[in-house]
Amino acid sequence: MKRFQGRVAVITGGASGFGKEFARQGAALGMKLVLADVQQDALDETVAGLRAQGVPAIGLRADVSRVEDVQAVANAAIEAFGEVNLVFNNAGVGAGGLVWENSQKDWDWVLGVNLHGVIHGVRIFTPLMLEAAARDPDYEGHIVNTASMAGMVNAPTMGIYNVSKHAVVALTESLYQDLSLVTEQVHCSLLCPYFVPTGIHQSHRNRPSALSNDAPPTRSQLAAQAMSDKAVTSGKVSAAEVAKMTFDAIRADSFYVYSHPHALGPVQQRFEAILAQRNPGDPFAGKPELREQLIATLRG
Ligand SMILES: NC(=O)c1ccc[n+]([C@@H]2O[C@H](COP(=O)([O-])OP(=O)(O)OC[C@H]3O[C@@H](n4cnc5c(N)ncnc54)[C@H](O)[C@@H]3O)[C@@H](O)[C@H]2O)c1
Repeated sequence: MKRFQGRVAVITGGASGFGKEFARQGAALGMKLVLADVQQDALDETVAGLRAQGVPAIGLRADVSRVEDVQAVANAAIEAFGEVNLVFNNAGVGAGGLVWENSQKDWDWVLGVNLHGVIHGVRIFTPLMLEAAARDPDYEGHIVNTASMAGMVNAPTMGIYNVSKHAVVALTESLYQDLSLVTEQVHCSLLCPYFVPTGIHQSHRNRPSALSNDAPPTRSQLAAQAMSDKAVTSGKVSAAEVAKMTFDAIRADSFYVYSHPHALGPVQQRFEAILAQRNPGDPFAGKPELREQLIATLRG
């Protein structure tokens, strides 16, 4: 996509972290914005801040795991602004711990938001964009799905999140292939951040009560939460920098967007192991103390 001015962006998870930065930077480029988020107070505050600066923006409380909510976002975007050019399927949540200890509710919550949220976005917005492209030769559309480096490697005590993000990688590479068969006007990118300070390590703040666990967290789940708190809050690349990289990638029609391109060693090692039929290595092998701490916690 080359032109942003006057065009319409839909951002899920738009009230915090990357989503909020996509909104700020989209606004600076002259875009009209549709923000969807499950956290009403943060959403209201974000939308009010944008409108106070004269940005045409609407906010919808939507749970992306519910197809009818994502459809309502699309309907509202069309009603307010007539078309959709840029979609960020970005809302996401995290849960950790030894993979066999995650409850059915953990799986339903994380896959519901991280995977089904993106599926709903792709299924609902892509046809709208293709119809707009068929009507108007100047139309440009772009879909950005937020996966993670956890979609490229499989670190321990992150299994449930890894599964959801690998699926987003598969979905988005498939989307790329399929779009290339039918259009030159609608493109897509895959955002794979490493640890970046946002609210992701506190995503349980928006966990629906119907999907809350009855049992207290296990030792591995507490250890995973502590690791996530530390890794996310000490991240050195900001959400604003990641949003800028993402807009640059949209402009250049680049598919893979990495927040930490210098940290791709574990991805290379994973694929080398696959090709050589070696057993999987530890993606955090560069920080052996992490593994030692985990072993001590889990066996101690
Ligand atoms: N920050 C990181 O280190 C990191 C790394 C890799 C991937 N990611 C991914 O980035 C994306 C954005 O997360 P973030 O880091 O900005 O975290 P964040 O918590 O700051 O923002 C996520 C937003 O999604 C919203 N949300 C949660 N559940 C929702 C639902 N069911 N429906 C609609 N909105 C919902 C939250 O309310 C929040 O506003 C997620 O997909 C996350 O998995 C983050």
